Amino acid sequence: MREPTKTIHGHEFVDKDLGVFIPPIYLTAVFEQRGSTLITDRGTDLKYSREENPTVRALEKVLSKLEEGVDSLAFNSGMASISTVLLNFINKDLKVVALMELYGSTLQLLQLLSNKVGFKLHMSWPETSELIEDLKSFKPDLVFIESITNPMLRVIDVVEVAKVCRDLDCKLFVDNTFATPLLLNPLSNGATLVIHSLTKYIAGHNDVLGGALIAKDNTLIQALWDWRRLIGGIMQPFEAYLVLRGVKTLEVRFEKESKTAMSIAEYLSDNTKVIEVHYPGLSSSPYKSIADRVFKRRLYGGVVTFKLRGGMSEAVKFLKSLKIIRPSPSLGGAESLITYPIISASKSIPRDVREKLGITESTLRLSIGLEDPEDIIEDIDQALKSLN
Ligand SMILES: Cc1ncc(COP(=O)(O)O)c(C=O)c1O
Repeated sequence: MREPTKTIHGHEFVDKDLGVFIPPIYLTAVFEQRGSTLITDRGTDLKYSREENPTVRALEKVLSKLEEGVDSLAFNSGMASISTVLLNFINKDLKVVALMELYGSTLQLLQLLSNKVGFKLHMSWPETSELIEDLKSFKPDLVFIESITNPMLRVIDVVEVAKVCRDLDCKLFVDNTFATPLLLNPLSNGATLVIHSLTKYIAGHNDVLGGALIAKDNTLIQALWDWRRLIGGIMQPFEAYLVLRGVKTLEVRFEKESKTAMSIAEYLSDNTKVIEVHYPGLSSSPYKSIADRVFKRRLYGGVVTFKLRGGMSEAVKFLKSLKIIRPSPSLGGAESLITYPIISASKSIPRDVREKLGITESTLRLSIGLEDPEDIIEDIDQALKSLN
């Protein structure tokens, strides 16, 4: 099955008696214990929805197929999935390398856990060559990266990084939220684990929170499953139903949003009130060659990051002038959203590090939705005209 077919048929659910092939919402906390009649395919009795729920299980099947894993676990948010996997691995002797530019809460969590438990955490400059140099000198046990970084959209060469990790025998965790399984399958490139905030492209409608961990190793999945049931972070059945519904249109949404994003990046590049445009699809982008080598398709995602001439007052004025695009801290949904990273996704990064990374008072991250591209451009255009 190719990706769009996997998103629609990958759940394998069918109720032969009723002829139902859309997974129902099993709104139940408990299951009657009848010996082996309700055995799940993970080999345990289906008994309690904190452990397993058939609607959630249907989504997990789709996600493992999409990411080419053997199995996956769905959580009630992206951060719940990240916390769970870190709890499984941390100990005081661990050596971790993480990109200096990651989603702010991921960085904050890594820092908090490192301070509390005492493991060594090295922050690496978010470029493939610098990261690889650090891996060779620091020799970590675990590496945490985003395949496309949030918010500056640097593309990391996951294939090269995975090769080095394999040589060093260290685990590679890839947050693939921005790239989606349509552009990249890190597990097939040698990563240990893939992480998604399902809240973004996979659910795709700005109406549900979710997270997922996907792996090729069943022993690892079993260990993470145990942590999930102990912490209680499993996704709820109604949310799983919404994500199952949303994921069916992943390809059409992502394609349209990527194409619109490309034309908006080009439009912004030609505007004198915009001083920088970061989009891996632009021919001027230093990341285009990595993207074209590593991504499965010539698409670059629906997020465009740019900097306005002027500082905070201009940025705020621009945000207030928008009529269709809403200032809001998420991405990947049907509604176009714009984020001011210094007060949201990158707030927890220390100011000096943030500025070194290029995340300044004039940086805005725009997530393109499914509106007509002309309407989005007209909205940006009138907001830019309101600036001095
Ligand atoms: C790249 C990335 N990973 C993880 C997360 C956390 O996901 P959630 O908000 O679903 O907890 C986010 C949220 O913005 C994100 O952008």
